[in-house]
Amino acid sequence: MVFGGFIPKGDRGVASGRALSGSNNPSPGGCVTPQFLEYPHPLVDLYDALHPGPLDHGDDRVLYHKLAKRRRPVLELAVGTGRVARYLAEQNIPVVGLEISPNMLRQARENISKESALVQRNISLVEGDMRDFDLGRKFPLAIVPFSAFQHLLAIENQMRALQCIRHHLAENGHLVIDVFDPKLEMCLPGGGLTREMVGEVVHPETKLRWKIFLDARENIVEQQVLHAEWRFVELASDDQVLRQYYWRLSLRWFYRFEMQHLLERSGFTIVNLWSDYQFSPPAYGKRQVWFVRKA
Ligand SMILES: C[S@@+](CC[C@H](N)C(=O)[O-])C[C@H]1O[C@@H](n2cnc3c(N)ncnc32)[C@H](O)[C@@H]1O
Repeated sequence: MVFGGFIPKGDRGVASGRALSGSNNPSPGGCVTPQFLEYPHPLVDLYDALHPGPLDHGDDRVLYHKLAKRRRPVLELAVGTGRVARYLAEQNIPVVGLEISPNMLRQARENISKESALVQRNISLVEGDMRDFDLGRKFPLAIVPFSAFQHLLAIENQMRALQCIRHHLAENGHLVIDVFDPKLEMCLPGGGLTREMVGEVVHPETKLRWKIFLDARENIVEQQVLHAEWRFVELASDDQVLRQYYWRLSLRWFYRFEMQHLLERSGFTIVNLWSDYQFSPPAYGKRQVWFVRKA
């Protein structure tokens, strides 16, 4: 099985459905050894087309804007292609965006270069790892949007990131972390092959269609980690498959009270928890949008 590489058309040597758990190294603390997995092309090119506006539970950018109005500048961890940062910058909120993936960062820079002078002036990007960074300054607000924190599979790394973020918060500084609230039926052992077509999107430059499949998914329940195998298929205008790209994504799921303990243990006071981006109270199976303060 090849992950993160293009497979020539017609190559069927792809064992979709193979058990996914074999390559992980369990370590004490119920974790797997965390590896940063580069966000690959074409996902990076397609990312903004895949997330053009509001997410499933509303427009997170509006929530961040409301919270940032009185707390600027903003530190955004795992800024990606600048989806949230560009929105805030347009409202004249300065953002420093930290990102580990060179591919995502390149895409963010390209996106920002096409924006207004206001947006360009308001965003600065830094390549870095949210588990270990030092910007030498403090912020009134830090945000970790759209499940990015769930890339941190090990407790040790979650705590390192929280400590680093806390260190960058001013007195009374706030942090927003958005993770999904796990649906228990999606957390059962196994997970198996799904071969589900998840979506179709047009590449912004080539204008060719890409189909996106979730080929397989496996839950490692004792680690609260899910592994998902994605397949990106580029289609010619006559629907011929041109290229297929395989990518494996691993995410940690967090139970609500686990997050509360983790945040409190890392030196934060819980201010609020919302289940969507309209400030709705906690609810099962939606989002956990944590709004916390440096204790
Ligand atoms: C789902 S994307 C979210 C991007 C953006 N925040 C958004 O809301 O569209 C997750 C991002 O987290 C980044 N990431 C993962 N681990 C990271 C780490 N340790 N430090 C910084 N960025 C990280 C990935 O490279 C990716 O760009």
